[in-house]
Amino acid sequence: MKRIGMGLVGAGFVGPHHVDAVRRLGFVDVVAVAGSSEASGRQKAEALGARKGYGSYQALIDDPDVQVVHNATPNYLHYDVTSAALAKGKHVVSDKPLAMTAAQSRKLVDEARRAGVVTAVTFNYRGNPLVQQARLAIARGDIGTPHFLHGHYLQDWLLHETDYSWRLDPERGGASSALGDIGSHWCDLAQHVSGLTITHVLGDITTVLPQRRRPRGSREAFAAAGSEDADAVDITVEDLASVLVRFDSGAKGTFSVGQVCGGHKNDLVLEICGSKASVKWRQEHQNELWFGHRSRANEVLQKDPSLIDGAARRYAHLPGGHQEAWADAFCNLMRDIYGCIAAGQSSRELPPAVATFEDGYRANLIVEAILDSAKNGGVWTEVEHR
Ligand SMILES: NC(=O)c1ccc[n+]([C@@H]2O[C@H](COP(=O)([O-])OP(=O)(O)OC[C@H]3O[C@@H](n4cnc5c(N)ncnc54)[C@H](O)[C@@H]3O)[C@@H](O)[C@H]2O)c1
Repeated sequence: MKRIGMGLVGAGFVGPHHVDAVRRLGFVDVVAVAGSSEASGRQKAEALGARKGYGSYQALIDDPDVQVVHNATPNYLHYDVTSAALAKGKHVVSDKPLAMTAAQSRKLVDEARRAGVVTAVTFNYRGNPLVQQARLAIARGDIGTPHFLHGHYLQDWLLHETDYSWRLDPERGGASSALGDIGSHWCDLAQHVSGLTITHVLGDITTVLPQRRRPRGSREAFAAAGSEDADAVDITVEDLASVLVRFDSGAKGTFSVGQVCGGHKNDLVLEICGSKASVKWRQEHQNELWFGHRSRANEVLQKDPSLIDGAARRYAHLPGGHQEAWADAFCNLMRDIYGCIAAGQSSRELPPAVATFEDGYRANLIVEAILDSAKNGGVWTEVEHR
């Protein structure tokens, strides 16, 4: 198989997982890493075993050995890095959000179309075998017609006032924090699994900690506060939100997100109640899929390739009882994306498990509609699918 060269821009928390995932495919070379300076580019490249380290994303994009650019920078750089890669005709794997605003994402959708390359956004929970199983079960009618989708995405890594991330700075993270960062995952997952589209939202957003201690140096995501010097800063973006949603079919929903919820590490839950039964998937117990029934005992399907549908089976790589996890689901998406690139296909031929730039744009639109709803006092707001 022809080898494909990959370059990573932004090697903080999630970037190294992009590297691990593509390495497992067997036909991808990790050519280069770009950091925020020459020194950090070199150091991150060495740490990740990449051949070259660059101090600027443009240098990495210009490298003829890099065919696929992975964008894992803080949100405020997403548009610039992705746009520059597309202008150079490179395939792009963008971490979410696709861009800071829907307007920027809209531009990237157009730029990607013009470039004619393969593009994808890492809404990675889609890559879990039991998420695909739930999607197929709903499409087959196992739970009947969905009428209520609910759940949450809660974390606790920003619970203390000494916890800080660029996500809380609107200049670097965007106008939304918790909703954009993790609410976007919930919305994408709910739509992907149900096949429905969120059309209206009503949001109630809160800043639980209106002041925090911001470290003077840089700190990567999920890193605990150290003894470094810190300044008091005002926080204007939300760290907690509850949202009512309506779907295009008439189904209703509700979800809450927050990064200030003690004990919830990466607690993403999606339950879909239908006219016949309910189905629930919980990220922290991701090898189990719950089905709820009215007239017989509820069931828990343990992830086992021999017990799940054929089309979901290719996302499960270990026998039953051998737990698969976050990184495996991430790798599943890379297998789909790079399979498409290797076959010379276009983004249109990506398997449904892979979120497209259009999906990334829709996620921005939903978050912006929720912010508008809250700003206007909590009124139903249409998600304008422009
Ligand atoms: N899909 C997921 O589940 C998931 C999980 C975490 C983060 N993310 C997304 O990934 C992105 C990165 O998040 P993170 O948690 O890894 O953040 P992070 O702060 O841990 O890492 C960002 C990295 O980018 C580097 N960087 C900053 N400016 C740069 C520049 N000009 N050129 C190259 N590198 C630069 C920083 O030095 C840092 O190493 C965000 O957009 C976030 O939303 C997605």
